[in-house]
Amino acid sequence: MCGIVGYVGPRNAAEIILEGLRRLEYRGYDSAGIAVVRDGEIEVRRDVGKLSNLARCLDEQPVEGNIGVGHTRWATHGKPSERNAHPHADSEGQLVVVQNGIVENFRELRAELEAEGIEFRSDTDTEVIAHLIGLYYHGDASLEAAVRQAMAQLRGPSAIVALSKREPGILVTARLGNAGGVAVGYGEGEMFIASDMPAILEHTRRMVFLESRQMAVVSQDGAAFSTLEGKPLQPKLHNISWDPVSAAKGEYKHFMQKEIFEQANSLTDTIRGRVDLGRGEVYLEQVTLTQRQAQDLTQLVSVACGTSFHSELVGAFMFERLARLPVRVEYASEFRYREPVLDDKTLMLAITQSGETVDTLAAMEEGRAHGSHLVSIVNVIGSAAARVSDSVVYMHTGPEIGVASTKAFTASLVDQYLLAVHLGALRGTLPVDERRRLLDDLARLPDLVGRLLDPANVPMYERLAQTFFHYTNFLYLGRGINFPIALEGALKLKEISYIHAEGYPAGEMKHGPIALIDENMPVVVVAPQDRVYDKMISQVEQVRARGGIVIAVADEDDDFIATKAQHVIRIPKASELLSPVLTVVPLQLLAYYVAVRRGADVDQPRNLAKSVTVE
Ligand code: AGP
Repeated sequence: MCGIVGYVGPRNAAEIILEGLRRLEYRGYDSAGIAVVRDGEIEVRRDVGKLSNLARCLDEQPVEGNIGVGHTRWATHGKPSERNAHPHADSEGQLVVVQNGIVENFRELRAELEAEGIEFRSDTDTEVIAHLIGLYYHGDASLEAAVRQAMAQLRGPSAIVALSKREPGILVTARLGNAGGVAVGYGEGEMFIASDMPAILEHTRRMVFLESRQMAVVSQDGAAFSTLEGKPLQPKLHNISWDPVSAAKGEYKHFMQKEIFEQANSLTDTIRGRVDLGRGEVYLEQVTLTQRQAQDLTQLVSVACGTSFHSELVGAFMFERLARLPVRVEYASEFRYREPVLDDKTLMLAITQSGETVDTLAAMEEGRAHGSHLVSIVNVIGSAAARVSDSVVYMHTGPEIGVASTKAFTASLVDQYLLAVHLGALRGTLPVDERRRLLDDLARLPDLVGRLLDPANVPMYERLAQTFFHYTNFLYLGRGINFPIALEGALKLKEISYIHAEGYPAGEMKHGPIALIDENMPVVVVAPQDRVYDKMISQVEQVRARGGIVIAVADEDDDFIATKAQHVIRIPKASELLSPVLTVVPLQLLAYYVAVRRGADVDQPRNLAKSVTVE
């Protein structure tokens, strides 16, 4: 989810590029850089951290020039640092490249290039592209031809912009797969390139959008488009009417809506490059636990807050069943006030989207103090939690902007599933054919989630919202691995619509909450056809017998539940361990559309912050 801005024209490229990168700030990033060509030389300025660091760098060492490219990085390979910041140059310094996406075969390509004597200066996959282009950019070869040849060797989604000092009048941009967009903007006597429209909307509203396997040579006077195979193209020129902020959300009204609907893609990114279905292997390159350490483990202690805590409650089922590890799941904010029994045979898991939640960091310190192996599941690369951990599994969902966590939650479920399979392999509790089956189930998951996110389902949620938006109390019930989903569904509703909602283990109804049931207390039940289905049905009957209203989340082929519940939201079947990834999506959508119907501030609910960095 990196940000790219390019410019060629009569004005100062660095100023226009820096302003454009600022407009992509919502995408989140951990480093930034700019390259400009002037008097036949390429000048680069890069810095780690916020864009203000790069701006200060440019103030101290300004770069003049009329053509340039800039980049804000959301690290996927190589930690956030100046050396890993884009742009990256080829070995002879004749060109620079910025990239959005992932070069899946960068290890092999890097090995081949190093065998040719090329020395790498960063840990990024992007640098491979710069050297590849440099390899072909010799003699009378054009930059366009060199880019074309380099792109032909890449696997995985990539969007790039290249700039050379030999051809200082052009930028060459190319797109492979769906790694963030490439917009080519037409100005008056100047041209722009951007990964996202907001970066250049103030300069132009006339844009061409590259599709996968397309490229463009952009000069001050216009652009020439072609396929990566070299076939000329005349793509459609769009007139954009959106304002910058709404453009950042694309066709969505809120970031939360966008993040809910992009979960099929974000889960694909979470899984990408981490499973070998044929061999039944999981690759978690930053999990350093040795086989001996894994076999010696006596317990797993999970610590987190809020939605991340709910994710860990689901994960407990995965680690107990697949890795045969006793699991304790603790509220991080409570954990530190106990005398926790931890030692060097404890694996401590911390899930934290932001990586900066102070209660979670404090609980991790307890683990560190007792010599436990710290593994964290984090979205923000290089954040505090990642830095203090022995092992890290990144969520790879791209920045999550909406305060209410959605795609990070489903990513953390998948990351725990991957970690549990990996631990099972290390501890010998999961034979390879069982691992293959588990990973086959996982490989199907993004498609199943995609079916849940079909826009054709939206009218149903809008009708449910219209029916229920005025209620003031909700009860959510789940059992077994879907009890935590009842908690999560209730949290989603309460934090964005301000309706009081309570998640409860279904089996606990008869021990108190059933006294609440009447026609003013809608009850959401999570009831896939798993081992506790029959018990859930009896809960539904108990609620109905007291005049309650039931909204059931149920399997698409379950005809029976519709005879019991007044409202049914259908989900595709999945394995029990992965069913929470599916059952949570309808609850995210229900909360979203109820909040919208109530006119709530969905992305920035009152009193809340995206990352709670204070106690
Ligand atoms: C989730 O919707 C909430 N915004 C909140 O509970 C959040 O999950 C919690 O603050 C933990 O945040 P973290 O994952 O960044 O540590």
